Amino acid sequence: MTDLRQGALVVGATSSVGRAIFRELSQDCEVVCTHHRNPGPNTVAFDLGHDEPGALPVDWGTLGAVVVAGGLTQLDVCARDPVASAQVNVDGTLRLIRHAQLSGIEPIFLSSDAVFSGVLSNAQPRPKTETDPVDPITAYGRQKRAVEDVVLGSTGTVLRLSKLVSTRPEDGGFLRDLAAQLLRHEPIRAATDQFLNLTWTEDVARVVRLAIAENLSGLWHVAAEPVRSRYDWSIALARELGVSEDLVRPCSLADFEFLEPRPKDCSLDGSRLQHRLPWTLRAGDRLISDIAGAG
Ligand SMILES: NC(=O)c1ccc[n+]([C@@H]2O[C@H](COP(=O)([O-])OP(=O)(O)OC[C@H]3O[C@@H](n4cnc5c(N)ncnc54)[C@H](OP(=O)(O)O)[C@@H]3O)[C@@H](O)[C@H]2O)c1
Repeated sequence: MTDLRQGALVVGATSSVGRAIFRELSQDCEVVCTHHRNPGPNTVAFDLGHDEPGALPVDWGTLGAVVVAGGLTQLDVCARDPVASAQVNVDGTLRLIRHAQLSGIEPIFLSSDAVFSGVLSNAQPRPKTETDPVDPITAYGRQKRAVEDVVLGSTGTVLRLSKLVSTRPEDGGFLRDLAAQLLRHEPIRAATDQFLNLTWTEDVARVVRLAIAENLSGLWHVAAEPVRSRYDWSIALARELGVSEDLVRPCSLADFEFLEPRPKDCSLDGSRLQHRLPWTLRAGDRLISDIAGAG
């Protein structure tokens, strides 16, 4: 059972989505937030890799909800040292999840489209549903899968997220970085063979709140429409900014040097959750115009 009246814990609350979740849940209850290296206002330090959940300054006997939003999220960091990163992303994360479960709380775990291989068939994306088999090809994806397996085999909620976009200027983010480059008339390279949804961090936070309020357990894809290639998203951004589309240089994902091959088809089908929600997730095209409008 989760119950917002009794307070919530958000582990990894200093990312843009973590801060959005804090703002959303704070409307209902007291929220304890943790950071690792970058303290935020009123956050407490907690290292999934080393710290015991029991030492967190919360009353586990009365706590209502636990959101697991923290961990090592850079794919190359996980690939470079799969053992050390798994100590955070798997061992420490499961320590927290089991502690929550033993305290009678169904944890909410933020997962990723990286649990899928992302193999592109016929150069076209096929957005994955919650029933598609997972087959990660990256260390990060395998770590996410390991935690998903435990949560889905016990109690709790797994929210699989697509690429996140914050519209708050102070949050920065990849689209804002691209916009800044384009406005300086610097060329950017964008892969024509990687496909993704863009999803608003505020929508994810609202989904977390709803998941707690309505005991939405099991697996849900949180992904707004539509799916486009990185190239097409970049062209859309250039158009919204009123700069030359020629600044966006088409390339392949293979042109970038990563430690591991990356999934090409990162698209998720979010329709099952969308049917359950009393609002429509903000569309990726609107996010592009929000970012462009904010300059
Ligand atoms: N961003 C996306 O596009 C995206 C897409 C799909 C899924 N997700 C999922 O959404 C969640 C947030 O992702 P993000 O990209 O927004 O994350 P992020 O910006 O990389 O932030 C990660 C968070 O985890 C904390 N953290 C890092 N190492 C930790 C450790 N050893 N122990 C405890 N906390 C630690 C960080 O704290 P400090 O900053 O204080 O170090 C921060 O609060 C993750 O679960 C990720 O898998 C994100």
